Amino acid sequence: MANELLRYRPQFPILDETTYLISNSLGAMPRAVYDAMRDYADSWAQRGVRAWEEKWWMLAAEVGDQIGDLMNAPAGTVSVHQNVTMCQAIVASCFDYSGKRNKIVFSDLNFPSIMYFWNAQRSRGAQVEMVPTDGIHVPLDRMLAAIDERTLLVPISHVIFRSAYINDAKAIIERAHQVGALVVLDTFQSLGTVPVDVQALNTDFACGGVLKWLCGGPGVAYLYVRPDLASRLEPTLTGWIAHEQPFAFQIGEQRYAAGQYRFMNGTPNIPALYAAQPGLKIIREVGVDKIREKSKRQTAKLIELAEKRGWRVNTPRDPERRGGTVSIDMPFAQEVCTELIQRNILVDYRPNAGVRMSPHFYTKDEELEVAIRAVEEILSARGAVATR
Ligand SMILES: Cc1ncc(COP(=O)(O)O)c(C=O)c1O
Repeated sequence: MANELLRYRPQFPILDETTYLISNSLGAMPRAVYDAMRDYADSWAQRGVRAWEEKWWMLAAEVGDQIGDLMNAPAGTVSVHQNVTMCQAIVASCFDYSGKRNKIVFSDLNFPSIMYFWNAQRSRGAQVEMVPTDGIHVPLDRMLAAIDERTLLVPISHVIFRSAYINDAKAIIERAHQVGALVVLDTFQSLGTVPVDVQALNTDFACGGVLKWLCGGPGVAYLYVRPDLASRLEPTLTGWIAHEQPFAFQIGEQRYAAGQYRFMNGTPNIPALYAAQPGLKIIREVGVDKIREKSKRQTAKLIELAEKRGWRVNTPRDPERRGGTVSIDMPFAQEVCTELIQRNILVDYRPNAGVRMSPHFYTKDEELEVAIRAVEEILSARGAVATR
């Protein structure tokens, strides 16, 4: 049964104190992170500079492979970075925008940082086509029509952060490949709650961070590059860690390393790599298929509870097209969010979405009821229980 996953609750201290429905933003911290951070501090304090050779230099590849394992990426194909925006910049730096193939296609439901980044690349010659949506779903026909022979890259979200809509990544990737374009799939809101298989999808790039559904904390993002493509790419956002012999300190041109280091640049974020590992271990142990099964059931329950009260739900009803979040746009949604947080019911609010509630494998069914009843109380105190 899905609730067998509740046995992991003692591993997450914050679950004793709060109703934690915010894994779409920051996953709960595993208790083992205390030990991991202590290991990091001990290695620095006691081993000093020797820690680089003994452990730290290898960490980026080790953690990259642990993440890769969750999305069926072959070993050596996932590099780690500071955040997803940097991953976009590294991908962008592999291409030239002065020729005919310089179009970037995405929808207006992309995460804003990705839009800001690509829009800014117009100054380097990129042409941007942003496909309009209804604010919840991405219209597949319009996306496919926008991807043409001039398209270079299609940076899209697998699961939409506002609505939890699951994009038809496979169809978009197929279309992109038919016309010679490449897809940068942002799996931030999918990996850890919705199964991702980069090889089955045949995506060219995949990127995301570990701080949400993977309970890995801030400071580690990942970039997968399809291996046959990787060897042909030369990122200009590069540095000594991407050199085939970083410790030769050679003067002159870059000579790109093989494997994931090819897409790295400078010194990796060692403390963040320590902090990321306990969450990754737990998610791998629990298994994304089990997490998904439970998530479908609990998000359906949340939708049912919200709709019963006449609140607008900005998330797909079809479980096959819905990720791990339910966006509920009740009256006074922003104020409701603030009051829920004051009551230790942790959620967030996004404009054009509403209050986002995200059960994860550690969420009890009763907590969904607790959150919805609290919303009801807050609205009733404002004289606004009635439907909008
Ligand atoms: C789909 C998606 N992409 C990207 C980001 C964040 O990007 P970055 O790692 O650059 O902060 C988020 C959320 O924070 C997100 O939900």
